[in-house]
Amino acid sequence: MRILRRRQLKLLLKLTVVLGSLWMLYLPGWPRTGWSPTYSLRHSWLEYTDDDGGPEKVCNCSAILQGEREALDQAKLLSITKDFQKSVRIPDEYYINATQDCSEFRLSRKYLMFPLNQEEEDFPLAYSIVVHHKVQNFERLLRAIYAPQNIYCVHVDRKSEVSVFAAIQAITSCFPNVFMVSKAVNVMYGHWSRVQADLNCMADLYNINTEWKYLINLCGQDFPLKTNLEIVRMLRSLRGGNSMESEEMPEYKKQRVTDVYQIVDGKIQRTSKKKGPPPFNLPILSGNAYIAVSRGYIRSVLEDNRIQTLIEWSKDTYSPDEFFWATVQRMPGVPGSTRPHRKYDMTDINAIARLVKWQGHEGPQDSLQSVYTECHGHHVRGICVYGAGDLQWMVEQHHLFANKFDTDKDPIAVYCLEKYLRHKALADVDWMLMFLPLF
Ligand SMILES: *[C@@H]1O[C@H](CO)[C@@H](O)[C@H](O)[C@H]1NC(C)=O
Ligand SMILES: *[C@@H]1O[C@H](CO)[C@@H](O)[C@H](O)[C@H]1NC(C)=O
Repeated sequence: MRILRRRQLKLLLKLTVVLGSLWMLYLPGWPRTGWSPTYSLRHSWLEYTDDDGGPEKVCNCSAILQGEREALDQAKLLSITKDFQKSVRIPDEYYINATQDCSEFRLSRKYLMFPLNQEEEDFPLAYSIVVHHKVQNFERLLRAIYAPQNIYCVHVDRKSEVSVFAAIQAITSCFPNVFMVSKAVNVMYGHWSRVQADLNCMADLYNINTEWKYLINLCGQDFPLKTNLEIVRMLRSLRGGNSMESEEMPEYKKQRVTDVYQIVDGKIQRTSKKKGPPPFNLPILSGNAYIAVSRGYIRSVLEDNRIQTLIEWSKDTYSPDEFFWATVQRMPGVPGSTRPHRKYDMTDINAIARLVKWQGHEGPQDSLQSVYTECHGHHVRGICVYGAGDLQWMVEQHHLFANKFDTDKDPIAVYCLEKYLRHKALADVDWMLMFLPLF
């Protein structure tokens, strides 16, 4: 009886301290009216609510995530309405102004400024983000993946508009662990410079911070499908391995590495010259630009002499972003790599790095030839830019991130995804456990 009472007393004490510390931490943004201890304990003010949302808030995200026809039709109709399209677009100048007061910006945008649990804190991640336009996309991506223990390098294309550069720089300046790459390049489609942009960020991330365990590279039109905790758990389960597409190069792509390419009038073009064989007779594998790799993989990319030779050899090929990482992944001695034998080939579907819906692999639900059902958004260069109708399928996949999203064209897909992820992240937290070290 006495023990029980002491326990209750201790619990009450804990509750008081928890509430007190939350109060101290969040005094400026505290919802002063109608707060209650249960409300604050669940950290409900960190959920995205309709009050934060723009005009997307008329959509019913739970119905959309369950694939309900009526809600999807409504979302589709809304996203093609001119007034709606105009009202969801946020000009670059808005971000430049809004970030003048960083603490207000972080607070109003509900950035998570403390690690949600020990497990995440003990497994910091590094992100290399390559952007050239669409600042709103970038900011919402950053908000979705932001955690104070992680580190983020942003590469803004040298030829980006001045306002894009200024807005992104302003956003990064509000976070101690988000920085602009030390050396930005002019990224050209299909050219080596796309890989170089990532390499520059990787070098910065590797040199600035020795703590991070895994690196993920992103572009501004990616969005996560998993919470930071889920990403940490999935990466840990790789047990030092890397995850990316890496498979035998299809016949039609082989020309990319057998012929010499060069830039003519700002465009990459094939020449009549033939390339020599790859260095060390390395098997050149096919993959894509997006990878999830261990710190050791990055160390090899930056320091292994064989890879420096491969880099030089790759500079006059076509789209090296689609074979460079995949080839390094199959080099003996690279941490987390697998042998070059075909039995270790990995497709983009089996890797967890990135979910992409290629137009050529879409088809009806019951077709045995198709990889997935049709895109519910629109296509850009043969890739699906997701619509709200793709969400239900998307969140069932094992991939950490999906490509592509466009908040100008279909903001509802991102709106519902970010709400879903934030809710999940907060629901997964054991708030009592978080404050246990206090006692
Ligand atoms: C949204 O959809 C869900 C699932 O169909 C439903 O339970 C809920 O009542 C809807 N909410 C509103 C506000 O219509
Ligand atoms: C700039 O931001 C402040 C708040 O940070 C706001 O009061 C003001 O209206 C904004 N100005 C413009 C031009 O957006």
